[in-house]
Amino acid sequence: MGKTELLYSDPIAAAVVAAEEIAKKTGIASHDVALVMGSGWVSAVDALGAPVFECNAEEIEGFLPPAVEGHSGKIRSYEIDANGKKMRALVFLGRTHLYEGKGIEPVVHGVRTAVKAGCKVIILTNACGGINTAYKVGQPVLIRDHISLTAVSPLSGATFVDLTDLYSKRIREIVKKEDSSLQEGVYVHWRGPTYETPAEILMMRTMGADLVGMSTVPEAIAAHALGAEVLGISLVTNAAAGVTGEKLNHEEVIAAGKAAADRMGSLLKGVIPKLL
Ligand code: HPA
Repeated sequence: MGKTELLYSDPIAAAVVAAEEIAKKTGIASHDVALVMGSGWVSAVDALGAPVFECNAEEIEGFLPPAVEGHSGKIRSYEIDANGKKMRALVFLGRTHLYEGKGIEPVVHGVRTAVKAGCKVIILTNACGGINTAYKVGQPVLIRDHISLTAVSPLSGATFVDLTDLYSKRIREIVKKEDSSLQEGVYVHWRGPTYETPAEILMMRTMGADLVGMSTVPEAIAAHALGAEVLGISLVTNAAAGVTGEKLNHEEVIAAGKAAADRMGSLLKGVIPKLL
Protein backbone atom coordinates (compact mmCIF):
# COMPACT_ATOMS: atom_id res chain seq x y z
CA MET A 1 0.00 0.00 0.00
CA GLY A 2 1.41 3.37 -1.00
CA LYS A 3 1.56 6.41 1.24
CA THR A 4 -1.61 8.45 0.92
CA GLU A 5 -1.75 10.80 3.97
CA LEU A 6 -0.26 13.72 2.03
CA LEU A 7 -2.52 12.96 -0.97
CA TYR A 8 -5.61 13.74 1.08
CA SER A 9 -4.18 16.60 3.18
CA ASP A 10 -2.33 18.46 0.38
CA PRO A 11 -2.86 16.79 -3.01
CA ILE A 12 -0.71 19.22 -4.99
CA ALA A 13 2.19 18.75 -2.56
CA ALA A 14 1.73 14.98 -2.94
CA ALA A 15 1.97 15.36 -6.73
CA VAL A 16 5.20 17.35 -6.34
CA VAL A 17 6.68 14.64 -4.11
CA ALA A 18 5.55 11.92 -6.55
CA ALA A 19 7.10 13.81 -9.49
CA GLU A 20 10.38 14.14 -7.58
CA GLU A 21 10.34 10.42 -6.84
CA ILE A 22 9.76 9.64 -10.52
CA ALA A 23 12.61 11.98 -11.57
CA LYS A 24 14.91 10.27 -9.06
CA LYS A 25 13.92 6.70 -9.97
CA THR A 26 14.05 7.27 -13.73
CA GLY A 27 17.06 9.60 -13.71
CA ILE A 28 15.02 11.81 -16.06
CA ALA A 29 14.62 15.35 -14.72
CA SER A 30 11.63 16.24 -16.85
CA HIS A 31 9.06 14.41 -18.98
CA ASP A 32 7.24 16.02 -21.93
CA VAL A 33 4.01 14.15 -22.43
CA ALA A 34 1.93 11.76 -20.31
CA LEU A 35 -0.42 8.98 -21.37
CA VAL A 36 -3.06 7.43 -19.15
CA MET A 37 -4.00 4.05 -20.57
CA GLY A 38 -7.56 3.00 -19.78
CA SER A 39 -9.36 -0.34 -19.89
CA GLY A 40 -8.18 -2.39 -22.83
CA TRP A 41 -5.67 0.25 -23.95
CA VAL A 42 -2.70 -1.17 -22.07
CA SER A 43 -1.29 -3.22 -24.96
CA ALA A 44 -1.46 -0.20 -27.30
CA VAL A 45 1.70 1.14 -25.61
CA ASP A 46 3.68 -1.76 -27.07
CA ALA A 47 3.82 0.38 -30.23
CA LEU A 48 6.09 2.81 -28.34
CA GLY A 49 8.81 0.18 -28.08
CA ALA A 50 10.52 -0.90 -24.87
CA PRO A 51 10.19 1.35 -21.84
CA VAL A 52 13.38 2.76 -20.35
CA PHE A 53 11.85 2.47 -16.88
CA GLU A 54 8.96 0.70 -15.17
CA CYS A 55 7.74 0.52 -11.58
CA ASN A 56 4.57 -0.43 -9.74
CA ALA A 57 2.52 2.73 -9.29
CA GLU A 58 2.09 2.14 -5.57
CA GLU A 59 5.86 2.53 -5.05
CA ILE A 60 5.32 6.24 -5.75
CA GLU A 61 3.84 8.73 -3.27
CA GLY A 62 0.06 8.84 -3.31
CA PHE A 63 -0.70 6.04 -5.79
CA LEU A 64 -3.17 3.33 -4.81
CA PRO A 65 -2.90 -0.29 -5.95
CA PRO A 66 -5.06 -1.13 -9.01
CA ALA A 67 -8.65 -2.19 -8.35
CA VAL A 68 -9.80 -3.33 -11.78
CA GLU A 69 -8.85 -6.24 -14.00
CA GLY A 70 -7.21 -4.90 -17.16
CA HIS A 71 -5.65 -1.99 -15.24
CA SER A 72 -2.20 -3.11 -14.28
CA GLY A 73 -1.09 -0.17 -12.11
CA LYS A 74 2.35 0.49 -13.58
CA ILE A 75 4.23 3.68 -14.34
CA ARG A 76 6.62 3.61 -17.28
CA SER A 77 8.96 6.03 -18.98
CA TYR A 78 9.58 5.91 -22.74
CA GLU A 79 12.10 7.70 -24.90
CA ILE A 80 10.50 8.74 -28.18
CA ASP A 81 12.31 10.01 -31.24
CA ALA A 82 10.66 13.20 -32.49
CA ASN A 83 12.47 13.98 -35.75
CA GLY A 84 15.87 13.53 -34.19
CA LYS A 85 14.90 15.16 -30.89
CA LYS A 86 14.38 13.08 -27.77
CA MET A 87 10.94 13.22 -26.19
CA ARG A 88 10.13 11.69 -22.84
CA ALA A 89 6.74 10.08 -22.29
CA LEU A 90 5.42 9.14 -18.88
CA VAL A 91 2.87 6.34 -19.16
CA PHE A 92 0.36 5.27 -16.55
CA LEU A 93 -1.01 1.79 -17.14
CA GLY A 94 -4.32 1.95 -15.36
CA ARG A 95 -5.96 4.64 -13.28
CA THR A 96 -8.06 5.13 -10.14
CA HIS A 97 -11.79 5.70 -10.75
CA LEU A 98 -14.38 7.61 -8.78
CA TYR A 99 -16.45 4.43 -8.39
CA GLU A 100 -13.70 2.89 -6.26
CA GLY A 101 -14.95 5.12 -3.45
CA LYS A 102 -11.54 6.52 -2.45
CA GLY A 103 -12.56 10.08 -3.21
CA ILE A 104 -11.49 12.39 -6.03
CA GLU A 105 -7.84 12.92 -5.02
CA PRO A 106 -6.47 9.52 -6.13
CA VAL A 107 -8.44 9.85 -9.39
CA VAL A 108 -6.45 12.91 -10.45
CA HIS A 109 -3.13 12.18 -8.71
CA GLY A 110 -1.56 10.66 -11.84
CA VAL A 111 -2.18 13.65 -14.08
CA ARG A 112 -1.16 16.11 -11.39
CA THR A 113 2.04 14.14 -10.90
CA ALA A 114 2.61 14.15 -14.66
CA VAL A 115 2.24 17.92 -14.90
CA LYS A 116 4.58 18.40 -11.93
CA ALA A 117 7.01 16.02 -13.69
CA GLY A 118 7.10 18.50 -16.59
CA CYS A 119 4.43 17.13 -18.96
CA LYS A 120 2.86 19.83 -21.13
CA VAL A 121 0.40 17.49 -22.85
CA ILE A 122 -1.72 14.82 -21.17
CA ILE A 123 -3.27 12.09 -23.32
CA LEU A 124 -6.24 10.43 -21.62
CA THR A 125 -7.53 7.20 -23.13
CA ASN A 126 -10.57 5.23 -22.09
CA ALA A 127 -13.08 2.57 -22.99
CA CYS A 128 -16.61 3.81 -23.41
CA GLY A 129 -20.11 2.91 -24.43
CA GLY A 130 -21.34 4.34 -27.73
CA ILE A 131 -24.50 6.43 -27.28
CA ASN A 132 -24.34 7.75 -30.82
CA THR A 133 -25.85 4.93 -32.89
CA ALA A 134 -23.56 5.73 -35.82
CA TYR A 135 -20.55 4.52 -33.79
CA LYS A 136 -19.23 1.00 -34.20
CA VAL A 137 -17.55 -1.18 -31.59
CA GLY A 138 -13.77 -0.83 -31.94
CA GLN A 139 -14.00 2.75 -33.21
CA PRO A 140 -11.81 5.41 -31.57
CA VAL A 141 -13.47 8.81 -31.06
CA LEU A 142 -11.78 12.07 -30.08
CA ILE A 143 -13.41 13.77 -27.12
CA ARG A 144 -14.49 17.26 -28.20
CA ASP A 145 -16.31 18.19 -25.00
CA HIS A 146 -17.84 16.56 -21.96
CA ILE A 147 -20.85 16.52 -19.67
CA SER A 148 -20.12 15.71 -16.04
CA LEU A 149 -22.99 13.78 -14.48
CA THR A 150 -21.10 13.00 -11.29
CA ALA A 151 -21.16 16.58 -10.00
CA VAL A 152 -17.71 15.91 -8.51
CA SER A 153 -14.94 18.35 -9.36
CA PRO A 154 -11.27 17.77 -8.57
CA LEU A 155 -11.03 21.47 -7.73
CA SER A 156 -12.17 23.18 -4.56
CA GLY A 157 -12.30 26.82 -3.55
CA ALA A 158 -12.67 29.87 -5.72
CA THR A 159 -10.88 28.41 -8.74
CA PHE A 160 -13.14 29.43 -11.63
CA VAL A 161 -11.29 27.66 -14.41
CA ASP A 162 -12.44 28.18 -18.01
CA LEU A 163 -13.21 24.89 -19.79
CA THR A 164 -14.13 26.12 -23.27
CA ASP A 165 -11.01 24.58 -24.85
CA LEU A 166 -10.55 21.77 -22.35
CA TYR A 167 -9.93 19.15 -25.05
CA SER A 168 -7.38 21.15 -27.01
CA LYS A 169 -8.52 22.01 -30.51
CA ARG A 170 -4.89 22.39 -31.55
CA ILE A 171 -4.15 18.80 -30.58
CA ARG A 172 -7.38 17.41 -32.06
CA GLU A 173 -6.35 18.92 -35.39
CA ILE A 174 -2.94 17.22 -35.17
CA VAL A 175 -4.58 13.86 -34.45
CA LYS A 176 -7.09 14.23 -37.28
CA LYS A 177 -4.21 14.95 -39.67
CA GLU A 178 -2.73 11.62 -38.57
CA ASP A 179 -6.04 9.79 -39.07
CA SER A 180 -8.65 11.69 -41.06
CA SER A 181 -11.31 9.03 -40.39
CA LEU A 182 -11.49 10.00 -36.71
CA GLN A 183 -14.74 11.50 -35.47
CA GLU A 184 -15.29 13.75 -32.47
CA GLY A 185 -17.89 13.37 -29.77
CA VAL A 186 -19.21 14.56 -26.42
CA TYR A 187 -18.28 12.26 -23.52
CA VAL A 188 -20.45 11.84 -20.43
CA HIS A 189 -18.79 11.00 -17.14
CA TRP A 190 -20.89 8.44 -15.31
CA ARG A 191 -19.74 7.53 -11.80
CA GLY A 192 -20.49 3.82 -12.02
CA PRO A 193 -19.72 1.14 -10.99
CA THR A 194 -23.10 0.19 -12.46
CA TYR A 195 -23.47 0.70 -16.16
CA GLU A 196 -26.27 3.07 -17.12
CA THR A 197 -29.90 2.08 -17.55
CA PRO A 198 -31.44 2.33 -21.03
CA ALA A 199 -33.47 5.31 -19.75
CA GLU A 200 -30.30 7.06 -18.60
CA ILE A 201 -28.70 6.51 -22.02
CA LEU A 202 -31.78 8.02 -23.68
CA MET A 203 -31.44 11.03 -21.36
CA MET A 204 -27.77 11.40 -22.27
CA ARG A 205 -28.47 11.18 -26.00
CA THR A 206 -31.18 13.82 -25.61
CA MET A 207 -28.64 16.06 -23.84
CA GLY A 208 -26.30 15.85 -26.81
CA ALA A 209 -23.91 13.12 -25.65
CA ASP A 210 -22.18 10.61 -27.93
CA LEU A 211 -20.07 8.55 -25.52
CA VAL A 212 -20.32 7.41 -21.91
CA GLY A 213 -17.66 6.18 -19.55
CA MET A 214 -16.44 6.20 -15.96
CA SER A 215 -13.21 8.19 -16.19
CA THR A 216 -11.26 10.95 -17.93
CA VAL A 217 -13.33 14.03 -17.02
CA PRO A 218 -11.81 14.78 -13.58
CA GLU A 219 -8.32 14.11 -14.95
CA ALA A 220 -8.89 16.45 -17.89
CA ILE A 221 -10.05 19.20 -15.53
CA ALA A 222 -7.17 18.71 -13.08
CA ALA A 223 -4.55 18.69 -15.86
CA HIS A 224 -6.04 21.76 -17.56
CA ALA A 225 -6.24 23.64 -14.27
CA LEU A 226 -2.47 23.12 -13.86
CA GLY A 227 -1.85 24.46 -17.38
CA ALA A 228 -1.43 21.28 -19.45
CA GLU A 229 -3.09 20.65 -22.80
CA VAL A 230 -5.41 17.65 -22.90
CA LEU A 231 -6.19 15.08 -25.57
CA GLY A 232 -8.99 12.61 -24.82
CA ILE A 233 -9.50 9.49 -26.94
CA SER A 234 -12.33 7.07 -26.28
CA LEU A 235 -12.49 3.61 -27.70
CA VAL A 236 -16.08 2.48 -28.23
CA THR A 237 -16.02 -0.99 -26.67
CA ASN A 238 -19.78 -1.60 -26.68
CA ALA A 239 -23.05 -0.02 -27.69
CA ALA A 240 -24.43 1.79 -24.63
CA ALA A 241 -27.24 0.20 -22.60
CA GLY A 242 -30.49 -0.24 -24.48
CA VAL A 243 -28.99 0.51 -27.91
CA THR A 244 -28.86 -3.12 -29.06
CA GLY A 245 -30.74 -4.83 -26.24
CA GLU A 246 -27.58 -6.82 -25.34
CA LYS A 247 -26.41 -6.87 -21.71
CA LEU A 248 -23.12 -5.11 -20.91
CA ASN A 249 -20.09 -6.76 -19.34
CA HIS A 250 -16.51 -5.82 -18.47
CA GLU A 251 -15.00 -8.75 -20.43
CA GLU A 252 -16.44 -7.43 -23.70
CA VAL A 253 -14.96 -4.00 -22.89
CA ILE A 254 -11.47 -5.48 -22.37
CA ALA A 255 -11.76 -7.71 -25.47
CA ALA A 256 -12.76 -4.80 -27.73
CA GLY A 257 -9.80 -2.83 -26.39
CA LYS A 258 -7.38 -5.67 -27.11
CA ALA A 259 -8.74 -6.06 -30.64
CA ALA A 260 -8.10 -2.37 -31.38
CA ALA A 261 -4.72 -2.17 -29.61
CA ASP A 262 -2.57 -2.18 -32.77
CA ARG A 263 -4.51 0.62 -34.43
CA MET A 264 -4.55 2.66 -31.22
CA GLY A 265 -0.84 2.05 -30.71
CA SER A 266 0.16 3.28 -34.15
CA LEU A 267 -2.12 6.30 -33.79
CA LEU A 268 -0.40 7.26 -30.52
CA LYS A 269 3.06 6.58 -31.93
CA GLY A 270 2.33 8.80 -34.93
CA VAL A 271 0.84 11.62 -32.90
CA ILE A 272 3.21 11.95 -29.92
CA PRO A 273 6.25 13.33 -31.82
CA LYS A 274 4.05 16.09 -33.30
CA LEU A 275 2.61 17.33 -30.03
CA LEU A 276 5.19 19.78 -28.73
N1 HPA B 1 -20.89 2.72 -19.88
C1 HPA B 1 -20.03 3.25 -18.99
N2 HPA B 1 -18.73 3.01 -18.99
C2 HPA B 1 -18.26 2.18 -19.94
C3 HPA B 1 -19.10 1.58 -20.89
C4 HPA B 1 -20.48 1.87 -20.86
O1 HPA B 1 -21.29 1.38 -21.68
N3 HPA B 1 -18.31 0.82 -21.69
C5 HPA B 1 -17.04 0.95 -21.24
N4 HPA B 1 -17.00 1.77 -20.18
